Amino acid sequence: MRHLLLPSAVFLALAGGLAWHGPAAAAGQLNLLCSVQDEWCSLISTTFARTSGIKVNLLKRGTGEALAQLIAERANPKTDVWFGGTGDPHLQAAEQGLTLEHKSPTLPQLHDWAQRQAQQSGWRTVGLYSGPLGFAYNTELLAKKKLPPPKCWKDLLSPALRGEVQAANPASSGTAYTMIATIVQLMGEDAAYAYLKGLHRNISQYARSGAGPIKAAARGETAVSISFVHDAPGEQMQGFPIATVTPCEGTGAEIGSMSIVKGARNLDNAKKFYEWALSPAAQQLGVAAKQFQLPSHRQTPLDPRIPDFRQIKFIPYDHAKYGRSAERKRLIERWEREVNSLAR
Ligand code: F6P
Repeated sequence: MRHLLLPSAVFLALAGGLAWHGPAAAAGQLNLLCSVQDEWCSLISTTFARTSGIKVNLLKRGTGEALAQLIAERANPKTDVWFGGTGDPHLQAAEQGLTLEHKSPTLPQLHDWAQRQAQQSGWRTVGLYSGPLGFAYNTELLAKKKLPPPKCWKDLLSPALRGEVQAANPASSGTAYTMIATIVQLMGEDAAYAYLKGLHRNISQYARSGAGPIKAAARGETAVSISFVHDAPGEQMQGFPIATVTPCEGTGAEIGSMSIVKGARNLDNAKKFYEWALSPAAQQLGVAAKQFQLPSHRQTPLDPRIPDFRQIKFIPYDHAKYGRSAERKRLIERWEREVNSLAR
């Protein structure tokens, strides 16, 4: 139930196998597919509904699952806007013609990386936020086990961490796909898969959603997670003993994105929501929902808990290449075949 934050009528429709309201989709509604954490999805939909008078039907899905849903809906789209989630699957949706070309007048006020994401997609998506990939660890658990905090990708291969690391599954989670694409770019593909096989020995489980592993680490269910580091402050605010680090060899960043679906039934409302979501007022709701990604609008005030990108060693992540459908499919299939199928 954690993934569904819906009016009960929509939930019943879902339980009956339908993705959204069928005949009820009229003016005055918006079907929003949301790939950030529940708190943020809820806050943007209730705030937008209250201020616009438009009823929002919200469906929460991991990035990979959201893309799969748009592909499944292609002939008869039910979704109007896809909000958030890592940028690579948004680029794939653009490449597959699932999303609508839309040039926001706000584009020049966005950071370069957000504008580049729009340009690379032929204006079918836009950067909403960015955040670095890294490790999170439970400080109390590591101290109890007398283990040093990991600092580098290579540290995660230590036999002392056997069964102590959690990551997500790249088929459902954009975070996990970002992890694979980052390691491939950092090490070269064959060395990356050798690394992922070694890492597999230390993994206790691959979670469905990208935020799952850090929540498990925060609650002491695993010592270490591979996560976006901006997901940590929200856990710390709840009192959990969690700390983060970005890997010494270098790491990748996501460009969390937003797209309007081609064939959206509520297109005017979709455009209203899209423009609102790019405004500093709407982007500030991330922090209000305890989410600490770097917002794409240059004028959105920055909370000090947002990771300081200047302190992090980044690889030059090739979003265009790793946002291609064929590349994602190939890398995930190789991971399934060569890594996930191995016994642990
Ligand atoms: O938890 C929020 C977040 O980390 C976003 O920054 C990111 O875009 C999204 O989760 C990815 O979720 P998933 O890995 O489940 O697709």
